[in-house]
Amino acid sequence: MKRVILGVVGAAFLAVTATSMQAQSQPYVYTQEQLDQWPSWAYGWAAAPKPGEKAGPQAPAPHLPRPNEDLAEQLRMQTVPGSSAQYSLVQIRDGHNVVDWFPQDHPKMPNVAEHGPASLDSVRGRGCASCHLPNGKGRPENANPAGQPVNYIIQQMRDMREGRRYTADPRKVNTPTMIQLAKAMNEEELLESAKYFASMPWTPWIRVVETDTIPESHLEAGNMYVPVHGSTKTEPLGNRIVESPEDEHQANILRNIRSGWVAYVPKGSVARGRGLVNLGGARKTIACATCHGTDLMGSGDTPGIAGRSPSYMMRQLWDMKVGTRDGLYVDIMKPVIEKLTVDDMRDIVAYLASLPVPSAAPKPVTTARAAN
Ligand code: HEC
Ligand code: HEC
Repeated sequence: MKRVILGVVGAAFLAVTATSMQAQSQPYVYTQEQLDQWPSWAYGWAAAPKPGEKAGPQAPAPHLPRPNEDLAEQLRMQTVPGSSAQYSLVQIRDGHNVVDWFPQDHPKMPNVAEHGPASLDSVRGRGCASCHLPNGKGRPENANPAGQPVNYIIQQMRDMREGRRYTADPRKVNTPTMIQLAKAMNEEELLESAKYFASMPWTPWIRVVETDTIPESHLEAGNMYVPVHGSTKTEPLGNRIVESPEDEHQANILRNIRSGWVAYVPKGSVARGRGLVNLGGARKTIACATCHGTDLMGSGDTPGIAGRSPSYMMRQLWDMKVGTRDGLYVDIMKPVIEKLTVDDMRDIVAYLASLPVPSAAPKPVTTARAAN
């Protein structure tokens, strides 16, 4: 079978028992069939990666006003509904000092969540909450660690440190940043951050809409779909899932942690996904509840998969399928995904995202948007 080498990812391999560090490189080698099926939408791209395409290192988290934007506007104090806090855009964009609109929605952030690992300076260091948000609910382009088991979270960070978990898409910039942070944390920070995210229950965050057409959308710099400003046009959804902020200004510009997401999924995908998830689709897969809990909210050290970002979950299934996510416990998932096609996986994550989740905290803001 024809194989395509896209490039090489370098991972510092840190042996737990050995004191020396060994450099290890993994090639991105895919079959043409995998590239033909590539779920680009889940990675925030319009097409599959091509040989030679790769991510540059992510720019350091900014602390200073942007030279190409109006200074007064960047220093003006912003507010969000229901919060007495005020922050400027410069503060909101500072990944080393994460802003906190609703401290009452979550326990007190440990230092590492707010400012990043102590071993990194203010340029390289980013608080976990700058990407995963102070409530751990995350965004489609990163991950949603809230409510996951402590041991699971710790294991994921160890897998990343040891080169067993990286992204299948060589163009994805933020996963390498995540891996750097996992490596930079000391054991205490690892445990503290895991306990912090695990302590917050998973609550509703995503609204799933089955549709053939979506508001005209484009991919913005963070590899996420957002509706085109001022456009009243629609575009076909096709065989994608498109996940966008309910309110782009609140979620993207102001980083309001109560502003949720909408996932447009193809018509019929939720019912097809339900069949695969619950019955194993006539032995095509294994019923997910066997391990992920009867309500799919997690069981023991197995993570929750209900009501979470379908783009994130799709990337995980695909990363496991092509082998870039191959952590200590991924073998358990291999028989589950072996026979699934990319369309099966899309239907599965559409259904999982649509599952009702217990609501224990303030619900995310939902702004109705026309879609049919
Ligand atoms: C630059 C943004 C960014 C920052 C900052 C960040 N992460 Fe991540 N995190 C990611 C991305 C991206 C992924 C993986 C998503 C993928 O590849 O699909 C991830 C994945 C994770 C996962 C796996 C979740 C799961 O369900 O398996 C955990 C746990 C995690 N991060 C914890 C942390 C902790 C703890 C910190 C703070 C030290 C942190 N992250 C800081 C971007 C970030
Ligand atoms: C035999 C047990 C088992 C079954 C059945 C199973 N899983 Fe898993 N799943 C796991 C384990 C264990 C992990 C954690 C792997 C790791 O540590 O990286 C996992 C991880 C995952 C993840 C990644 C979660 C995250 O936060 O990154 C997804 C998504 C997932 N499973 C989906 C499914 C779906 C969908 C099904 C059913 C079609 C399913 N699983 C069936 C055991 C199972």
